[in-house]
Amino acid sequence: MRNFYSIFSFLIFITEFKISQSDGGYLTFGPQFRATVGEVWPKPYRQVKSDKFYAVNSSDFQFVAVNKNCALLRAALTRYSKIIAATANGNFSTPATTNFAIIRKFRVNLTQSCESLPHLDMDESYYVRGDGVVRADSIWGILRGLETFVQLLVPMSNGLLLTRRTEIYDQPRFKYRGLMLDSARHFVSKAKILQLIEGMAYNKLNVFHWHMTDDSAFPYVSSVFPELSAKGAYRPELTYSKADVLEVVKFARMRGVRVVPEFDTPAHTASWGASHPEIMTKCAGKFEGQIGPLNPTKESTFDFLYKLFSEIKTLFPDKYLHLGVDEVDSACWESNADIQDYLKAHGLDNGDLPYRYLERYSANISAMGWLQMVWQEAMIENSYMEWPKGTIAQVWFDYKKTMATLTKKGHDVIMSDGWYLYVLDTGADWEKLYNVEPTDFNGSKAQMAHVIGGEACLWSEWINEHNVLSTTFPRVSAIAERLWSPVEELSVDEARLRLEEHNCRLMARGIEARPANGFGLC
Ligand SMILES: *[C@@H]1O[C@H](CO)[C@@H](O)[C@H](O)[C@H]1NC(C)=O
Ligand SMILES: *[C@@H]1O[C@H](CO)[C@@H](O)[C@H](O)[C@H]1NC(C)=O
Ligand SMILES: *[C@@H]1O[C@H](CO)[C@@H](O)[C@H](O)[C@H]1NC(C)=O
Ligand SMILES: *[C@@H]1O[C@H](CO)[C@@H](O)[C@H](O)[C@H]1NC(C)=O
Ligand SMILES: *[C@@H]1O[C@H](CO)[C@@H](O)[C@H](O)[C@H]1NC(C)=O
Repeated sequence: MRNFYSIFSFLIFITEFKISQSDGGYLTFGPQFRATVGEVWPKPYRQVKSDKFYAVNSSDFQFVAVNKNCALLRAALTRYSKIIAATANGNFSTPATTNFAIIRKFRVNLTQSCESLPHLDMDESYYVRGDGVVRADSIWGILRGLETFVQLLVPMSNGLLLTRRTEIYDQPRFKYRGLMLDSARHFVSKAKILQLIEGMAYNKLNVFHWHMTDDSAFPYVSSVFPELSAKGAYRPELTYSKADVLEVVKFARMRGVRVVPEFDTPAHTASWGASHPEIMTKCAGKFEGQIGPLNPTKESTFDFLYKLFSEIKTLFPDKYLHLGVDEVDSACWESNADIQDYLKAHGLDNGDLPYRYLERYSANISAMGWLQMVWQEAMIENSYMEWPKGTIAQVWFDYKKTMATLTKKGHDVIMSDGWYLYVLDTGADWEKLYNVEPTDFNGSKAQMAHVIGGEACLWSEWINEHNVLSTTFPRVSAIAERLWSPVEELSVDEARLRLEEHNCRLMARGIEARPANGFGLC
């Protein structure tokens, strides 16, 4: 197979790209789009290029930490050494040039001591020089810089790696660049989750939002309430143990990726009801026999939540918890006689129910030391709720209006409208994802400053173990570039050939990516 690919990759570099479909002309052989060579994805903030090249012999080079060092850095250097070795043995080589100097040392200059936990305001800026310098003030910048540095290396047919003489000054446009996985509608194994996170790091994404539970299943094995997964998971083996969660969190942390958990409430909780019907609402009337959202009028509901989330807090070190609070339909609450009695006894009405829930729950979560994220409805529908400072809304529909409303009230928001990866089109649908611009709404400069990023969402109705990676990659790369690179540089036409190369790079590193641009090598 190696030879097969080498021949093809040789062909793509000697073949002029020509295509004339519309006027009925002939296609030349070779790929539809010719990949770039040694271009970086996502596109850096500033890159000074030259046409001079160097070479690296993958078995005769070393990373040298010339300044601060720490376990995170050592692990990253080991990882990237392996990636370089695999790149050299990879399938996607370019013809050899002969005119180069060999680089033997990569100097990694971390100027300040390591932080151990990635966070919302971490510094991801870095400097890279193609002849072997990566410099940053923070370990997170070093991680992004190493990724860039290694992307500059392209295997040549003579066994060496080609690298460009270049200087790169880079930093992200947005500080929140996420990927959400719903692990409830279909179970996704820990091994695939780790690959997802690995692929996120290859695209400089920095938040893994783990939508752990939903109506359909409760796959997390709790020790305070083991019955939640015993009765609420699809099967006992389709679950995540505490050790699994800790492993995912650590794996992500090593790559500068935060893990924000979401155990969605008060709706989307049918699976909780399988073992704890007492915290749920029994619907009546039109919905007789059905079970609705968590019951906000019972003390026991809040005691339960407090116990469960106290345990969850020990596993997820990130400052943020995503509360969920999407699609809460209050019709079931309104149909329940006990709830109506409670409202009467307390001089309340149906409109008070969501507040009764949110005020109690959110205050308790704050008291545990968490900052909060919520789906947009939590804020839009409960406009009198006073959210704790720092609460972030995730916008997933009607974004022009929603962004304008929420940022005007001074809330930080992230964009997900248009970035639901389970919505699939055939063809190069990354282009559509690429063209979604989070600041494309009517608002002042101050409002725009409240847009802190965005997140691709993998709802898993149509995603399972077997297609999760190919649904995600390389489509999420388009979103990653939109969120990282300077907005005035973003162009589908310019990005296409770089994405063609980046997709080969992802595949060479073991990510099962789908084609980006029609027929071709990758
Ligand atoms: C790379 O380095 C190794 C070890 O020094 C050496 O054996 C090999 O010949 C070198 N490869 C090339 C292509 O120069
Ligand atoms: C590391 O970078 C700092 C800041 O640019 C510089 O002052 C220092 O000399 C560098 N250290 C090494 C060993 O290159
Ligand atoms: C959180 O809620 C639980 C259960 O209702 C309660 O026991 C605890 O005191 C609350 N903690 C704070 C700090 O409000
Ligand atoms: C944009 O918002 C401003 C201020 O809220 C308003 O005056 C203006 O009419 C809006 N423009 C559009 C095109 O909606
Ligand atoms: C190269 O291609 C072969 C055959 O498809 C595959 O087994 C191998 O994993 C590929 N190597 C890389 C580095 O992608």
